[in-house]
Amino acid sequence: SKAEIGLIGLGTMGSNLALNIAEKGHRIAVYNRTMARTEEFAANAGPLRDMVVPCETIEALAEAIEPPRPVIIMTVAGTPVDEQIALLRRVLSAGDIIIDAGNANFRDTMRRFAELEGSGLTFIGMGVSGGEEGARHGPSIMVGGTEQSYRRIEKVLLDISAKYHGEPCAALMGPNGAGHFVKTIHNGIEYADMQMIAEIYGILRDGVGMAPKEIGEIFARWNEGRLNSYLIEITAKVLAADDPKTGRPMVDMILDRAGQKGTGKWSVIEAQMLGVPATAIEAAVAARVLSSMRDERLAAEKAYGTQTTNQFTGDRQALLADLELALFAGKIAAYAQGFAVMDAASREFSWDIPLPTVAKIWRAGCIIRSQFLGTLAEAFTGEKVANLLMAPAFVEMMKGAHPSLRRVIAGASEAGLPVPALSSALGYFDLYRQGRGTSNLLQAQRDFFGAHGFERVDEPGAFHGPWGSGSL
Ligand code: 6PG
Repeated sequence: SKAEIGLIGLGTMGSNLALNIAEKGHRIAVYNRTMARTEEFAANAGPLRDMVVPCETIEALAEAIEPPRPVIIMTVAGTPVDEQIALLRRVLSAGDIIIDAGNANFRDTMRRFAELEGSGLTFIGMGVSGGEEGARHGPSIMVGGTEQSYRRIEKVLLDISAKYHGEPCAALMGPNGAGHFVKTIHNGIEYADMQMIAEIYGILRDGVGMAPKEIGEIFARWNEGRLNSYLIEITAKVLAADDPKTGRPMVDMILDRAGQKGTGKWSVIEAQMLGVPATAIEAAVAARVLSSMRDERLAAEKAYGTQTTNQFTGDRQALLADLELALFAGKIAAYAQGFAVMDAASREFSWDIPLPTVAKIWRAGCIIRSQFLGTLAEAFTGEKVANLLMAPAFVEMMKGAHPSLRRVIAGASEAGLPVPALSSALGYFDLYRQGRGTSNLLQAQRDFFGAHGFERVDEPGAFHGPWGSGSL
């Protein structure tokens, strides 16, 4: 019989997604640029072999699927996607659906939607999170497209997605680029989460002088509490691991130079375009860039000297309690920023992104999955709040946590330990909750040098200060 769905691109993510689809009872036709890879995939499909239709050409792929044909593209984002779409346009016909499941920039997705308009083909831009494991056994799936096109692939997506207490972690985020936008912000938050965890690790390593295994045990303990999440869980596991080659802690043997593929940067660019502060995400992206400048950092360390180490000598239990709460406070601010960016984009592009649903489908399957997202989903359900920081449950949590964040940042600054994401989170919070800020001075300066005018506290209208006409 014919396949229900097709997939192009049998890299790790594509292969795993294809096996996941096959395992859930959906016959799948697969195609890869090189037939050798397709054959290898089929040969390794094991008991799922019968559910897989290996295709040597793109024509064969189209032929193998029951119309209307949904075809998933799972290749490297960018030009390869456009190439595959061009090929598919030759072999598909009206009513068929092309689904880009890679980490596309949502602006490319919007362009592809526009390009396919009038072709009779339907396009879907779909964010998939959860890494290799997620793709194989249940990712979180963020769909962008029309309601009608979503309904046509919904069954497959709900079947293959992660389940949070039985609830599938796949949903329509909105039309057009909404799915890839939400995935991008997921990754931006992922960057902030990871960076803040690394900063806390840095304090424990360089401020307290703890060994990786000890630090790992702390993270394992934190994973039982309010910080419970996949990223904290794997951090504990990573810190516990030894290098098979040298027998030393694995983390100690890994170069401190982080890679990045662009989604974090896109989050920050889009946040700026929308005029939404996303300072913790921005700091996390900047920290990765600085990490990559290793030679410069080594030279600067020579010029300025190393940080003072093992400065944190006080009450160990009190410090650990502070670090846990500091991370929690930073996390709240970072998520508040990420959700504010999505909210603004939703309005800007008229997507109507369901924020509570975003939080719900992130509870399982994706990289930032956590118990915290359940609380966040509740905060966004019901009466609309301007910012996560204004949801009553979060006001309470933040009140309890920000004093710790302050102490941690103060201590780290004194010791010269970098905490850019945590301190950006605190700076954002402090600005956000300051009723009378200091931008009155900025306005005065702007009026002084550019006659830009200002508003007064005691009367409506536009005014100038007593510093002349504003000319220099
Ligand atoms: C996910 C991840 C994934 C991302 C990697 C790498 O949700 O499964 O976000 O999509 O590609 O995390 O991203 P960087 O290479 O930019 O760190």
